[in-house]
Amino acid sequence: MNYEAFYRQSVDDPDTFWSREAQRIDWHRAFDTVCDHARPPFARWFVGGETNLCHNAVDRWAQRQGDTPALIAITTETPDGTPAEKTWTFAELQRETERTAAIMRSLGVGRGDRVLIYMPMIAEAVFAMLACARIGAIHSVVFGGFAANSLATRIEDAQPALIMSADAGSRGGKAIPYKPLLDEAIGLSAHKPGHVLLVNRHLAEMNLVAGRDVDYATLREQHLDAQVPVTWLRSDETSYILYTSGTTGKPKGVQRDVGGYAVALASSMEHIFCGRPGDTYFSTSDIGWVVGHSYIVYGPLIAGMATILYEGTPLRPDASIWWQIVEKHKVARMFSAPTAVRVLKKQPPELMKRHDLSSLKALYLAGEPLDENTSAWVADALGVPIIDNYWQTETGWPILSVARGIDDKPTRLGSPGVPMPGYRVKILGEATGTVCGANEKGVVVIEGPLPPGCLQTVWGNDERFVSAYWSNFSTEQVYSTFDWGIRDDDGYYFILGRTDDVINVAGHRLGTREIEESISSHDNVSEVAVVGVEDKIKGQVAVAFVIPRHADRVATPEAKQQLEKEIFAVVDRQLGAVARPSRVHCVNLLPKTRSGKLLRRSIQALCEGRDPGDLTTIEDPASLVQIREALQS
Ligand code: PRX
Repeated sequence: MNYEAFYRQSVDDPDTFWSREAQRIDWHRAFDTVCDHARPPFARWFVGGETNLCHNAVDRWAQRQGDTPALIAITTETPDGTPAEKTWTFAELQRETERTAAIMRSLGVGRGDRVLIYMPMIAEAVFAMLACARIGAIHSVVFGGFAANSLATRIEDAQPALIMSADAGSRGGKAIPYKPLLDEAIGLSAHKPGHVLLVNRHLAEMNLVAGRDVDYATLREQHLDAQVPVTWLRSDETSYILYTSGTTGKPKGVQRDVGGYAVALASSMEHIFCGRPGDTYFSTSDIGWVVGHSYIVYGPLIAGMATILYEGTPLRPDASIWWQIVEKHKVARMFSAPTAVRVLKKQPPELMKRHDLSSLKALYLAGEPLDENTSAWVADALGVPIIDNYWQTETGWPILSVARGIDDKPTRLGSPGVPMPGYRVKILGEATGTVCGANEKGVVVIEGPLPPGCLQTVWGNDERFVSAYWSNFSTEQVYSTFDWGIRDDDGYYFILGRTDDVINVAGHRLGTREIEESISSHDNVSEVAVVGVEDKIKGQVAVAFVIPRHADRVATPEAKQQLEKEIFAVVDRQLGAVARPSRVHCVNLLPKTRSGKLLRRSIQALCEGRDPGDLTTIEDPASLVQIREALQS
């Protein structure tokens, strides 16, 4: 079957299509209904079925190929950057997951309880995710680069019974303590977890809170022989929550199911990622992001592949480290982000050439726009197909790509590709809500029901799910991606950036509103606007414009610099260094409409040296002059 026929069946006869795809996983109880869409926009997949993500990722492979590698944890966060690694076979991974599951149970965690995982890229983080999946607890992984306030918001929203963390992460060989941030976050949150389970890597001092904090290694010793059978879950039970930024300052908890997600991953591993049991797969993402959930942990394991968990930067001990890993572990499929490739592109080409990369079949890139230059350079350097894929935390797996497991439909430079199975993608005019013609710019939307694996709802807030994602057009109820896009004459899509206040820094999705709220807490900030500005390496960087409360205190360039430094520190402390703006400019006016709405698109345009656009609604044009002057200084 070629792509066209395959895709057509997925949207014209979804029941047949997804019934077939569902056979890629094990079901404890067969489903009765493929998709229940009686209450749109909510969709329930494989209703009546019972399954388990951990069984499909671990146990079934432990039975079939127990001695083959499942998890390969590699760290270059060693004193001199020399890689250290440890491998777990499927049988060993099952045993370790059972131990972690037993520890969680001993701490009172049960089916439906939330477990917040705030961990560096170490194997215990993967055991924790799989252990939750095993016993039906709902995990909520928070990116280790986030700081106290970001963490507190998530603790308060998810209300975890247990938080699992570690003494520290590490970056560039330097320990980054987690425990003090975690304690501060728990202090800030109205909800307090029953227990905090801590992995001690002996990288930083840790003060344990009596009665609350427990040591992972000690409890593991007590559960070495634990056997914890999987809990069979309803297909539409919740597997996890993953918070992501949106238009408001409050992150949304993307809630995912069990059965639909398992099928979507099994299907995408086959058709898009061409995963073969026994092959090795290497994604350079982080478990704190959706790529880490779907394509470090669950996807590759569900496909019976060995997955590499990498802690470290792409440049330490030197810029050949990833290629060294590819060679050593005969990596077949690799997944990264355009920013990482742009960073490596600046390094001497010999570093790549030195290694035998013949095992590598394809490189997948996602998370941000892939520019033609970067794509052409890496295709040439590696000599393998570069597969761009476009999706979101909300969808859990690619919306657009080319499915090399189906046919060899050519890629097109600058385009992530064509719709993947089950996604009924359209482009609608922002104001009109009508379907755009070929090559006409509009908003990328998806018709319901969304395919399996996509978000069920926003955690604890069905109303927000409907109002945020499904109510953007008066013409029809469609899911908005909040991305601009166009479709060319041949059906290839091009993504042209976000329609909302979300920015994408080095493939990390950040909300400008959250950054603004954090900056506002500085006592010399009266108003602030944060916009995403094009950057050659990171794709975008955040740039802040603040109106000081006391202008007299920032009268000199030195004082302005001091304020900038203080604002960096505030953001680092509250949100984490990932959210730190690259520059803070002082102004005494911000461009707004007469009704007081910030004209972010105009500010962004000025920062990028473009025309500020339609200014008929602007309150005070002098504000634009100020932005220009600030940029020049
Ligand atoms: O704007 C799009 C951009 O990243 C957003 C989703 O980010 P996140 O929720 O972190 O999920 C990343 C999953 C890979 C999208 O709304 N984006 C993601 N992939 C691409 C992209 N933009 C252009 N091309 C892509 N391939």
